[in-house]
Amino acid sequence: MSESALLDMRHLDTRGVRQPITSASHAPGAIYSSEEILAQEKKNIFMKEWLCVARVEEVEKPGDYYATRIIGEPVLIARNQKGEINAFANVCLHRGVEIASGCGNTETFTCPYHAWAYDLDGKLASAAFMRESKDFDPKTSSLKKIHSGVWAGWIFLNFSANPTPLAEALSEFASDVDLLKMENLRLGSKITLDLPTNWKFVVENLMDVYHVRTLHYNSFGKHRGPPENYPFHLRKNGGTCTRYEARPMTPGGETLFGKMPALANEPDNFAMSAHLAPNMQVIARIDNVHPLVMWPVTATTSRTYVYNLYPKEWFDLPNFAERIDVYDKYMRLVLAEDTTMMNSLQNGITSANYEPGRFSTLEKGIHHVLNDYFRRLDQSA
Ligand code: FES
Ligand SMILES: [Fe+2]
Repeated sequence: MSESALLDMRHLDTRGVRQPITSASHAPGAIYSSEEILAQEKKNIFMKEWLCVARVEEVEKPGDYYATRIIGEPVLIARNQKGEINAFANVCLHRGVEIASGCGNTETFTCPYHAWAYDLDGKLASAAFMRESKDFDPKTSSLKKIHSGVWAGWIFLNFSANPTPLAEALSEFASDVDLLKMENLRLGSKITLDLPTNWKFVVENLMDVYHVRTLHYNSFGKHRGPPENYPFHLRKNGGTCTRYEARPMTPGGETLFGKMPALANEPDNFAMSAHLAPNMQVIARIDNVHPLVMWPVTATTSRTYVYNLYPKEWFDLPNFAERIDVYDKYMRLVLAEDTTMMNSLQNGITSANYEPGRFSTLEKGIHHVLNDYFRRLDQSA
């Protein structure tokens, strides 16, 4: 990484992280608490990368829409009458109000402020009391489009003007997780967690195999193999991938469904996780896949979505809802254990007595992801 003026200006000493892992130290606390760093993350990372924002089944039918905010940017995803999915800036062409919120099904988006109306392709269909406004033609006006694409049942978007094609950007990650056949899965439930912690602590925690048999010993830690048995593969684009042994995510570690068809030839204790920079972690067991996507809200708060995916054909099984509820409750329990630690981390890194400590080689994934993060954060273009 080059010594950027911006990073120097903020007295960010990243040299410790940039050492080989056996000599490395953790990152300075400022990257987890500074609003200036968050602004730089937005500009250099989130406004440039392909970002995973939804499952296709969240906008399944023509007219379905989903409105959200990503790092403060209002976004509207809508499926038109032809079945195409588009993403728009959810910013009214009149004064900038969000024209839709939440999710639903519609033929027309009517801005709640002065009722300008837009069709599912983002075209302005009507704008009352605007006839006398000179050189204003609603027919030539449209919501700003945001680049979007679909891969394996996921909707990605990219805020930059000329993004790398989605398939090219995802190629390493896609080959790592191809065996899961996520395009054949469906969203069973989506858990939203608003956390009082920087988004990167959540990213790091999910690949922190070092803590599992300590913090989670009484939950899923007892079903896990030793932490040194995690062969982390480090990818060029900042991703990681590891296959390991772990039981399904239920209180007894037993599956309530059996093996997913795509994993029929894998052992019962199949487990894998893969990271896609900057903010997605796909975690799989023999009987479900539960990707998590982490979003900054402020420098010290974040939102995580947990997407619990199951094979489409299981949705008609008896007691499907009750069964997946067992997985959801267990997931919440494990994440609550993590949240306690992340809250303490968030406080600890602002302590006058905090100095970044040394890495264990078990933290290989975190070390790789942080080094890639600094490379992205430091882009001056
Ligand atoms: S801000 Fe949307 S119609 Fe006025
Ligand atoms: Fe954990």
